[in-house]
Amino acid sequence: MDLSITVNGIKFPNPFLLGSGPPGTNARVIAKSYDAGWGGAVAKTVSLESSKVVNVVPRYGKLRSRRNDEVIGFENIELISDRPIEVWLEEFRQIKKDYPDHVLVASIMEEYSKERWQELTRVVQDTGVDAFELNFSCPHGMTERKMGSEMGEHPDLTEEVTRWVTDVAKIPVWAKMTPNITNIREPSLAAVRGGANGISAINTILSVIGVNLDTLRPMPTVEGYTVPGGYSAQAVKPIALRMVSQLGLGLPKGVTISGIGGIENSHDAIEFMLLGASTVQICTGVMLQGVKMVDELKDGLAKFMTDKGFSSVQEIVGKSLPYFSTHMDLVKLMKEAKRHKAGEAARDNEWAQKDITEKTAELTSN
Ligand SMILES: Cc1cc2nc3c(=O)[nH]c(=O)nc-3n(C[C@H](O)[C@H](O)[C@H](O)COP(=O)(O)O)c2cc1C
Repeated sequence: MDLSITVNGIKFPNPFLLGSGPPGTNARVIAKSYDAGWGGAVAKTVSLESSKVVNVVPRYGKLRSRRNDEVIGFENIELISDRPIEVWLEEFRQIKKDYPDHVLVASIMEEYSKERWQELTRVVQDTGVDAFELNFSCPHGMTERKMGSEMGEHPDLTEEVTRWVTDVAKIPVWAKMTPNITNIREPSLAAVRGGANGISAINTILSVIGVNLDTLRPMPTVEGYTVPGGYSAQAVKPIALRMVSQLGLGLPKGVTISGIGGIENSHDAIEFMLLGASTVQICTGVMLQGVKMVDELKDGLAKFMTDKGFSSVQEIVGKSLPYFSTHMDLVKLMKEAKRHKAGEAARDNEWAQKDITEKTAELTSN
């Protein structure tokens, strides 16, 4: 089955990309993921001065299911790459030489300076990477230097900085959005005004994973203290799906979406595609399952296409978007379908007569 898709003129062997983070830490792990069958990778975010990036240990925290050990949420307080830009430039070159048909997206971030953003764009572009992802979305650490989500939270800055990059970029530019805002369309449309070809969504959601009741310290705890971090993994998927659907419905034609947030299997990935994503990225899922998870992603997508009669991946993109409507319209449709009795059952007296858990189940769709 042909799982390829062409996005902004770039042919992806399949729509599955490593998301920026530990899975794309260096050339070795990126090469391993290509060998395993991933269509592409977004490398860990790079900047001009790695010496300013100092990571802490521990920097991850897990939220487990109340019933078993399954990880349902994941917090990190990790910064962008702490490896020197010269090393990265050499590795970008090497990866493209060894894997010309796999897609390499460079994630870049800088301080609020036109000169610095344009210099970073130029030196990275010269290595032959296929596209840029602008990290306007890291929610912790970098914000103290007015980087990351500090830019994505302010549409005027998003537009201006995107423009700096697109003025010198000769390859496609995706802008990666923070979910820690009220309306994802605003900064996304600002990036599009600045010349972005695509939007990546979402980065992590600001969070505090928990508090240790023995020590009274919030986690992850570094020498007794913490900072709020970024939340990822399956718990964030519904929020990411909502934001991707808003982009799917609200971006100008031709602006592409790379869907991210809590994807752990082909089922999750297909949901993002149905809501408008033409590629998907996975970060925490790879950290927890390893790069081999791509086998299930590809098999599951191929089976879905066969079962549903899709002959190309492109046909799936946005297929479920027409089924969003308004609440008023849902009421009208329900009345027309003569199911208003079910709607009325939500009234006060019914809640009093039945056990609340029973009533909740009756009103739930899955
Ligand atoms: C440990 C860790 C480090 C991350 N580092 C970066 C980064 O350097 N640049 C970036 O754009 N996103 C970074 N992210 C965010 C992910 O790329 C992704 O947007 C987010 O985690 C949601 O997707 P997921 O649920 O598949 O992890 C990081 C996420 C994690 C968990």
